[in-house]
Amino acid sequence: MTKIAPSILSADFAKLGEEIKDVEQGGADYIHVDVMDGHFVPNITIGPLIVDAIKPVTSLPLDVHLMIKNPDDYIQAFAKSGADIITVHQEACVHLHRTIQLIKDNGVKAGVVINPATPAEMLQPVLGDVDLVLVMTVNPGFGGQTFIESTLTKIEKIAKWRSELGLDFEIEVDGGVNPETAQLCARAGADVLVAGSAIFNQANRKAAIEAIRHGAEG
Ligand code: DX5
Ligand code: ZN
Repeated sequence: MTKIAPSILSADFAKLGEEIKDVEQGGADYIHVDVMDGHFVPNITIGPLIVDAIKPVTSLPLDVHLMIKNPDDYIQAFAKSGADIITVHQEACVHLHRTIQLIKDNGVKAGVVINPATPAEMLQPVLGDVDLVLVMTVNPGFGGQTFIESTLTKIEKIAKWRSELGLDFEIEVDGGVNPETAQLCARAGADVLVAGSAIFNQANRKAAIEAIRHGAEG
């Protein structure tokens, strides 16, 4: 079954704990945490302090998406705060294998992510080393942007390589996911769908999650 990872970027931060419990009760599989530094992306969001604060609120895995320069400097802090998956951008890592190993050495699952304009081929050297591949379907920085359809061929390629190589990493997509684009992503081979505005901008989060899952499986 397709997994749904609500992005708390679109949650009400004044009541973040309640927002997380709401999506957990609504059937979410992961909690997606968007970390932005104002350098790699033009926005600043949350740091390890917030991950630490939300950890006791949920039993769901915390899927921490680092949109930051020099991720190596912060991996240990996010691991200590309770991240279960840490995903780093290929574009931000000069020594990608080293960064992936650093995540694993901290006892956390390792993911790698590419922006919409980065070719899928850039991931080929590390496919055997990661637990998760994240394909950005918008340019990172903000919630509520429009899905970029040209990313679908990259999801298809990565899914094909995974089966050819006999690997079992998860394929996640992030940005502009709604019930319609969920279907396109799932058909292309995505297993985990991140959705921010399509879930948190709806009053009934359970219904919003079910609509996305239904879209994916339709
Ligand atoms: C984009 C973030 C996403 C974002 C998705 O920079 O990485 O996780 O919150 O938001 P929606 O689902 O609204 O596009
Ligand atoms: Zn994200």
